[in-house]
Amino acid sequence: MKRIAALAGLLLALCLTASAQRHPRAPYRFDPVEPGVHDPVLAKEGDTWYVFGTGPSEMTSTDLKTWTSVPGPRVDFEWISEFVPGWRGGAWAPDIIRYNGLWHMFCSPSASGLQTSVICHMTRSTLDPASPEPWKDCGEIIHSVPDGMKWNAIDANVVIADDGTPWMVFGSYWDGIQLVRLKKDLSGVDGVPRTIARRYIIDRPDIHNPLSTLAGKNAIEGAHVYKHGGWYYLFVSWDYCCVGVNSSYKVAVGRSRNVEGPYLDDTGKDMAQGGGRLVAFDSDRFVASGHCSAYTIDGKDLYLCHAYERYGGQSKLVVREIGWEDEWPVVSLEDESEKTAHAMVLDVTRNGAAIQPTMYGVFFEDINFAADGGVYAEMVKNRSFDFPHPFTGWTAFGKVTLKNDGPFDRNPNYVRFDPSGHTDKYTGLQNDGFFGMGIQRGKEYRFSVWARGAGSKVRAELVNPDSDVESQVLVSSEIDITSDQWKQYETVLTAPVTMQDARLRVFLASATKGADLEHISLFPVDTWKGREGGLRKDLVQSLYDLHPGVFRFPGGCIVEGADIDTRYNWKNSVGPVENRPFNENRWHYTYADRLFPDYFQSYGLGFFEYFQLCEDLGAAPLPVISCGIACQFQNSPDNPDAFIPVEELQPYIQDALDLIEFANGAPDTPWGKVRAEMGHPAPFNMRLLAVGNEQWGPEYPKRLIPFVKAIREKHPEIRIIGTSGPGSEGDLFEYLWPEMRKIQVDLVDEHYYRPESWFLAQGSRYDNYDRKGPKVFAGEYACHGEGKKWNHFNASLLEAAFMTGLERNADLVQMATYAPLFAHVKGWQWRPDLIWFDNLTSVRSCSWYVQQLYSLNKGTHVASLTMNGKPVSGQEGQDGLFASAVWDADAGEYIVKIVNTSTYSRNVSISVKGLKKGQQLAAAGCTSFHSAYPDLDNTLENPAAIVPETGTFDLKDGLFDEKIPAKTFMIYRLKRN
Ligand code: AHR
Repeated sequence: MKRIAALAGLLLALCLTASAQRHPRAPYRFDPVEPGVHDPVLAKEGDTWYVFGTGPSEMTSTDLKTWTSVPGPRVDFEWISEFVPGWRGGAWAPDIIRYNGLWHMFCSPSASGLQTSVICHMTRSTLDPASPEPWKDCGEIIHSVPDGMKWNAIDANVVIADDGTPWMVFGSYWDGIQLVRLKKDLSGVDGVPRTIARRYIIDRPDIHNPLSTLAGKNAIEGAHVYKHGGWYYLFVSWDYCCVGVNSSYKVAVGRSRNVEGPYLDDTGKDMAQGGGRLVAFDSDRFVASGHCSAYTIDGKDLYLCHAYERYGGQSKLVVREIGWEDEWPVVSLEDESEKTAHAMVLDVTRNGAAIQPTMYGVFFEDINFAADGGVYAEMVKNRSFDFPHPFTGWTAFGKVTLKNDGPFDRNPNYVRFDPSGHTDKYTGLQNDGFFGMGIQRGKEYRFSVWARGAGSKVRAELVNPDSDVESQVLVSSEIDITSDQWKQYETVLTAPVTMQDARLRVFLASATKGADLEHISLFPVDTWKGREGGLRKDLVQSLYDLHPGVFRFPGGCIVEGADIDTRYNWKNSVGPVENRPFNENRWHYTYADRLFPDYFQSYGLGFFEYFQLCEDLGAAPLPVISCGIACQFQNSPDNPDAFIPVEELQPYIQDALDLIEFANGAPDTPWGKVRAEMGHPAPFNMRLLAVGNEQWGPEYPKRLIPFVKAIREKHPEIRIIGTSGPGSEGDLFEYLWPEMRKIQVDLVDEHYYRPESWFLAQGSRYDNYDRKGPKVFAGEYACHGEGKKWNHFNASLLEAAFMTGLERNADLVQMATYAPLFAHVKGWQWRPDLIWFDNLTSVRSCSWYVQQLYSLNKGTHVASLTMNGKPVSGQEGQDGLFASAVWDADAGEYIVKIVNTSTYSRNVSISVKGLKKGQQLAAAGCTSFHSAYPDLDNTLENPAAIVPETGTFDLKDGLFDEKIPAKTFMIYRLKRN
């Protein structure tokens, strides 16, 4: 079958692939409980059930529930290519019967959408996959050719009539389902085929038969005759398959007392005239079921078909017992578990713990070009020529020399432009930006440069080096250098076009007079809050829209450094940008196979800017500082250089104390003055400080202790955060937690980049944590899909599920920040990430929406929500449900979050306990977050593919009773009077 629909399927697959370019396909894995299949047929030998389907599909089972995949029959006999040129094997729409002591299989090698098909026949004495006996080639039963025949030779099904005569039904489209008698030994046809069923009515005008001019609109295929109770039932599949949830397949049946028909439906209409009675209806889980087969085996009437999962579009094997209604077969696609009631209790007798304003936040690290090349809007790479290779990012032409006695002592390099000495030769530089420079038509870009050389002239140009028109130059502007002293000059360039990868060229424009240039910079004028030299607006907007309560920065591993000297040194990141020394970025080499040798930290986004950003976002600043240990992943424990001796830690501790002064001190304190001079005399109100990132082993507590002592003494107002190491459990984790208790840090930073199974198993993680010690900060986490470590909907759904456990335990878990935050589509080292961007646009991932939904529905107090007295945390017997609830005192609403991680819909009822006299609840709207494509995410091309939807729901007599669709995150608001 499916010759025709396969084409449409291919088209859809191509569309999905295109929209998911940065998501490679996960390797196919056989699912033993819900195997994927197309066109299934069934046989039983001994105690083993066998299912065969299209393609290499063959599977075995002893209970019809758990399946094992085995290699399917090869159908690659040489003669087949006479009929189907290029045929390479595989069982297309097979049929299997036991007849005269042998198993007989019929398959349909075929060319898509054409009548180039042949039904072939093969036999074997056993179905045992372990037997060496091959399938015996018994040749052709019948073939079709594209010469105006009324049928094609596919989808064979052989039925032995009551009188012992073998008959075969077959065919798709054209003139519908054909019936023909076979020779007694099944070696070929014994008569002329004739039509016994047609469709004619197409009820999905939006789905077109891709080959209608050839095949016609007679969308019928997959015939199967089933003998039962003295009737011959003819099942057929109407309409179109193979386009996932957009498929419109449905199974219809008619019956006859005679194998030759006519087959009539329950209204008496002949199937040859379009008659047919529907057999199975779409369920919450399955749509477009079709290509069925039916059997009575061991006293059971069994029905097999494939159907598309509504949430994922995968074609799954469905095996059901047939029910009978007036001798008509009726099949329910519903799974038993979908009928189960899940009764939850929302106990509002008293409010639970207060939810901290810091509960949901963000974690920023300059990884994936998040800062330089990302949110820090500087478009010039290596603007001061101080990278280890001073011309990284630049192409020099003419007479350009590097000097190192420039005006900024911590960035001493600059360039000298000398006249080329020839009217047709030029001196200058081109900068490549970060994967080019994104410019937008009509927008302004501020070019600035420190220069000296009175009487000289420089010209700044935005160019398109790949232009195929006469001039590469998009816009240019000249600057007169008026002094022999270093001075900053600027000009604004207006982009005449929009492009991702323009370049900046800087020329010496004076013929005889040279110039010295330093700190060559280009920024969009239109930055976040219009700040000169500021941040990229769209990216900050995406942070703002998350409403983060806390902002952790500047890392991550970059805080620690691959060696102590390259740790993030916040003092280097403040003061005038021209004099902030660049630092290495370990993410340029951490993954040798994703190497970005030109990735450094300019510190243009420094601690002042971070604090200012926190203020803009309304988020509590949470800086992380080095504890005197370089990254332990990158250094052996025996490397003394990676561990500052405890007795030499004072400068590091002083850095911490100075940082608090920089953030909060009065403008007349040394570091408060630096802040005030940078334009922010008022304090930044920093209250949180993390010492160390993912440190582990005894070396960490030894160093943390003196930090804690010094900070507590001078700044008891600061809440100190220690770490439990890089893992979510295990020896390092088990060692550090008791140490953190002993040291009495305020919060412990836990990290978990873990697979689906972990997220599904950790719903109750915090339910039994010790409440007496430090609080928990889930400082870095993300679901890293097994075999699919990239952003996709299902991973975000599991994050949502896990977060119900954070919310329920908000007395203990006071902050949570997903990680990492940003990634440039051309410059990433780590996936998944919350926000993706290129040089012009950005996209919010599904995980972003989950974070935002939690932020927007944070509430003020935890509320108790249980099922059978237990937290709803995906526990055994809870059918993949996770749920939590909060009271929002400001809105006067209870907010219930329910995540159905299963692939089945779930009936959920909630009764409310503890309402005071006169108090009532009213439905106040709901939000759902769902995708039918669990492996996909939003993309730059399709940024709103998967977004939350708001809606309404009813409380029936005050009772909440809803069906939560498969793979869905639901948020319900209940207003209390
Ligand atoms: O988020 C990426 C990295 O993961 C962080 O730098 C580090 O803390 C963790 O290992």
